[in-house]
Amino acid sequence: MNLKDLYIDFFISKGHKQIPSAPVVPENDPSALFNIAGMQPLIPYLMGQPHPLGTRLCDYQKCVRTIDLDCVGDKIHHTFFEMLGNWSLGDYFKNESIEWSFEFLTKILNIDKNKLAITVYAGKDNIPFDEVSYNKWLELGIKKERIAKTVEDNFWIAGTSGPCGSDTEIFYWQGKGKAPEVFDTNDENWVEIWNNVFIEFNKNEDGSISELPKKNVDTGMGVERTTAILEGVDDNYLSSIWKKTIDLISKLSNLPYQGNEKSMRIIADHLRTAIFIIADPSEIKPSNTEQGYILRRLIRRAIRHIKNLGININSDWEKDITTTIVEQYQKYYPELKEKQETIINTLKEEKIKFNKTLERGLKKFEKAIQNNHKIDGSTAFHLFDTYGFPLELTVELAKEKNIEVDIEGFNQKFKEHQEKSRTATAGKFKGGMGGNSEIEIKYHTATHLLNAALKQVVNKDVHQKGSNITAERMRFDFSCDHKLSDIEKKQVEDLVNKWITDGIDVTKEEMPKEEAIKTGAECMFIEKYPSIVTVYSIGNISKELCGGPHVKNTKELGHFKIKKEEASSAGVRRIKAVLEKDCPEIK
Ligand code: ALA
Repeated sequence: MNLKDLYIDFFISKGHKQIPSAPVVPENDPSALFNIAGMQPLIPYLMGQPHPLGTRLCDYQKCVRTIDLDCVGDKIHHTFFEMLGNWSLGDYFKNESIEWSFEFLTKILNIDKNKLAITVYAGKDNIPFDEVSYNKWLELGIKKERIAKTVEDNFWIAGTSGPCGSDTEIFYWQGKGKAPEVFDTNDENWVEIWNNVFIEFNKNEDGSISELPKKNVDTGMGVERTTAILEGVDDNYLSSIWKKTIDLISKLSNLPYQGNEKSMRIIADHLRTAIFIIADPSEIKPSNTEQGYILRRLIRRAIRHIKNLGININSDWEKDITTTIVEQYQKYYPELKEKQETIINTLKEEKIKFNKTLERGLKKFEKAIQNNHKIDGSTAFHLFDTYGFPLELTVELAKEKNIEVDIEGFNQKFKEHQEKSRTATAGKFKGGMGGNSEIEIKYHTATHLLNAALKQVVNKDVHQKGSNITAERMRFDFSCDHKLSDIEKKQVEDLVNKWITDGIDVTKEEMPKEEAIKTGAECMFIEKYPSIVTVYSIGNISKELCGGPHVKNTKELGHFKIKKEEASSAGVRRIKAVLEKDCPEIK
């Protein structure tokens, strides 16, 4: 049976409810590009909000971590992975969590307990040594020599603020021969397989720590790594997860995996991640900003390695690889099958775009390094701007030749270019390189108006639950217990359009967070804001804590139109809307 199924069945037998994997692009957290852990979509519930499915939850979550993107190519790094997680929201705590992890590993997966080692929190400042976890591991038969106490590695937080707590990590001996009696945390043959975090605190923006209303458990186990261990391979890419994809790449290139590992791993990993990103409901496309730029980097880096292996770029490799990966994952993520055509077309379009300039760009690169020991900022920018080489690709090519790239110089050129294009397109639509385009800024202001209109038309208790803006449309999630009627939709639309034609000024103020709350300003997750906040007001219609930017006056927005109103999740509805006039794209 598949690891994911075994895991979910086990935690259901312990009273948990399975929740579906959230999209890879966070729905309600504009500060993060991708979900990097199973807990991320659960932050509001870890902060104290009741979850509709109760206090024990489990899932497998799609995660994208791009921090190590350039390390992909070795045996262990991936940009996409699935994280198995189980949560207690103020229900069980350390003892049960550790007992169940141990039971799952040793009884269900039949892992030898003599191959396990543990770390627990050693204690620092006001947070004491985690004696409960330490004693529980001893009681379960782990020898004290195999339990290490650390501070830095046993406190977990996603990013720099938010729910957090001490953790206990489980390691598995992947080295050759018998596992050493004493656990040396620096020995890389010990690989971490499971992390049980005891989330009791919230780290505020100012660095202070406060206690959460409830003590929670958040655990995470990586599917790729655990599968490799269970199958006894020391290269993750040799596990059954990758077999079909690697075999296919081998077939397409007519080359064996051995000797071509790096390129094959990069192609397999990057395209799998790209496929999951494209299939996401947020409809990300390759671009030069944010998630779109990551997607572009993944596809273009994969393409370069496809070329390295001698695969014909113009063959249908994107179709073959997509089909293989979709078949493998569709049972767990049906969205892949639904979006299969879109995925293939997106990969193909990006391939065609990149392929037009790739050869010439490579020639330009070769020329630039002749007699030079460094690629200067202008050349790196030229490769980016004219030949579509993401900076990281130039850096990687240079590294292969032992040459440096002037990244500072590139950034300088990039900034100059941005400023130039800003001046050149003042007052006009701009697709946007690295920043908010004008149309996106308009949509941003429109979400504030929509939020206010929903409160007036539907119910004053309607609250924003998330939003997502692209240059083509806005999406707005809000709490509401019913489907909006046609009359309600029309009234909301009319009200937003009235405020637009009224030409109301949008103003910005900075003030302490507490004061902002007192004035009744709206916000989604108050804990996430710094102590001094920006408040945007639209006349006396709307007042929200928000980082901006916004238009100066509502008359800039054009005509607001609701395209779709649908359910998003339990008690949450979603509106997709567009701004129709005054948008030079449509005019
Ligand atoms: N949130 C924890 C992690 O990602 C479980 O390691």
